Amino acid sequence: MTTLIQNGTIVTSERTFAGDIRIEGEKIHEIGPGLPAAPADHILDASGMLVLPGGVDVHTHLDLPFGGTVSSDDFETGTRAAAFGGTTTIVDFAVQARGMKMRQALDTWWKKAEGRASIDYGLHMIVTDLPEAGLEDMDAMVAEGVASFKLFMAYPGVLMVDDATIFKALSRTAGNGALICMHAENGGVIDVIIRRALAEGKTAPIYHAMTRPPTAEAEAVHRAIAMAEIAGTPVYIVHLSSEEALNQVREARDRGLPVFAETCPQYLLLSVEELARPGFEGAKYVFTPPLREKHHLAALWEGLRQDHLQVVSTDHCPFCFADQKALGKDDFTKIPNGGPGIENRLQLLFHHGVNEGRFSLNRFVELVATTPARIFGLYPRKGTIEPGGDADLVIWDPDAEHLISAQTHHMRVDYSMFEGFRVKGNARTVLSRGEVIVDRGQWLGRAGRGAFLKRSARGGAWK
Ligand code: URP
Ligand code: ZN
Ligand code: ZN
Repeated sequence: MTTLIQNGTIVTSERTFAGDIRIEGEKIHEIGPGLPAAPADHILDASGMLVLPGGVDVHTHLDLPFGGTVSSDDFETGTRAAAFGGTTTIVDFAVQARGMKMRQALDTWWKKAEGRASIDYGLHMIVTDLPEAGLEDMDAMVAEGVASFKLFMAYPGVLMVDDATIFKALSRTAGNGALICMHAENGGVIDVIIRRALAEGKTAPIYHAMTRPPTAEAEAVHRAIAMAEIAGTPVYIVHLSSEEALNQVREARDRGLPVFAETCPQYLLLSVEELARPGFEGAKYVFTPPLREKHHLAALWEGLRQDHLQVVSTDHCPFCFADQKALGKDDFTKIPNGGPGIENRLQLLFHHGVNEGRFSLNRFVELVATTPARIFGLYPRKGTIEPGGDADLVIWDPDAEHLISAQTHHMRVDYSMFEGFRVKGNARTVLSRGEVIVDRGQWLGRAGRGAFLKRSARGGAWK
C-alpha cells in the first residue's frame, strides 16, 4: 500500500517546508516537492494544512488501579481519544506493587493493552520496592524495551520509596542506560500537613492544594537532582507544576547537569481557583502535584520557551466525577488523584503556544513529539518526519475551530478539565504506521492494531 500526502506544509522540530510525503507500507519512504502521484494507491490532499509528526505523550495512566478505583479510560478508549487529538504514541506506566516482580507487572500491563490499543505504546515501570534482586530485574526490563522507571517521593505507605531506594535505582541506570522519572513532592511533610488539616475539619477539595505547597515540590526536585548528580546519571522530573521547582531544574541545567523535566497543559492553563469551585466541583481538578497560584503559569510557559522544560505530556489519569471522584465527598484525601487530557494536548499547546505567539511551530513539534521521542528512546522511529521512520503523521488544520467539551470528546470520562475552551487548530487526518485511523472526525482505526514499542536505553537524556 502506497500513500502520497500532497501539497502540505511539513513541520518538524527543525524546519517548515512545502513538500509531499510518500509512504510505503508502514514507513515514510520519500519526502520532497512535487512527488509523482503514480504509483500511489491512496492520495491525501493536504493543501492549506500542516503535516506534523504524530504526537508522543510519554505520561499516561490507562486502566490504572489507583485510590480505590481504576482510571476510567482503558487502552481501547484512551488510545482512540489520543488519536483523535493527534497523538499516535503513548508511554504508559506499569506498576510493580510491593512484593511483586517487575516481570509480573509487565505481563499484566501487556494484557491490558493487547487487543485494545489502537496506537503504538511503550511502558515505563513504576517501582515501589527494590530489594537487591530488583536491581537485576531493572536490567531485565531494559532488555524488554522498558527503558525508564518512575519512582515516587510522595504517597507514603502506598507508592513512596525512600532516598536509599531512589539512589540505588539511579545508580543502576549508570550501567543499564535507563532513565529514572521522579514524582517529586516531599511526601512525609505533605502527610503531616494533611493530618493537621483533617484534624481541623478541612475536608473540601481545595485542601488538596493547600496541603501540598510548591516548596514541597521544589525540595523534592532539588533532592532528586542531587541524588542523580551523585550517581552520575540523568534524571527526568515528571509533571512539574511550580516556579520554585522549575528554578531547581534551571539551576541544575545551567550547571550542565543532564536534568530534564516535563509539564502538562493543566499546569499551563489552569490555576488553584478551580479547586475552590462551589460544591464538590473542585474534585474534578484534584491531581498531584496540585494546581498552583496564577503566577506559576507564566513561569512555566517561559520555561518551555527557554528550554528549561523540554516536554509537554498529559499525565492523563481520568476518573469520572459522578461515581469515582465522589469517593472523596467527605474527605479530600479519598478523591482519586488524576485528571483527563490525552485528547487535548496538541490542541491546547498549538492554540495557546503557537497562535498566542509564545513559541514557534517548530518548538511546538519539539515539545509534543520530537523531544519526548528522543528522551524515551523512540527517535527517529517516532517523533519526526524522515525516510525510514514510522508513518505516524497528522494532517493538521491550523484554522479549524474547536470547542473542547465533555459532550463531544472521546475520552471515557464525564467531564473535561478544559470545558468551554475554544481553540483554533485541530487534527484533521491522523495516520498511524501508514494507516488512516482518524479522518475529519471519523474513527477508522481498530482496537488491537497498536503495537508494543521496545524502547532503546540511553535515549536523548544520555546524549
Ligand atoms: O494525580 C496524579 N498525577 N495521578 C496520576 C499518578 C501520578 O502521580 O502521576
Ligand atoms: Zn506522579
Ligand atoms: Zn502520572
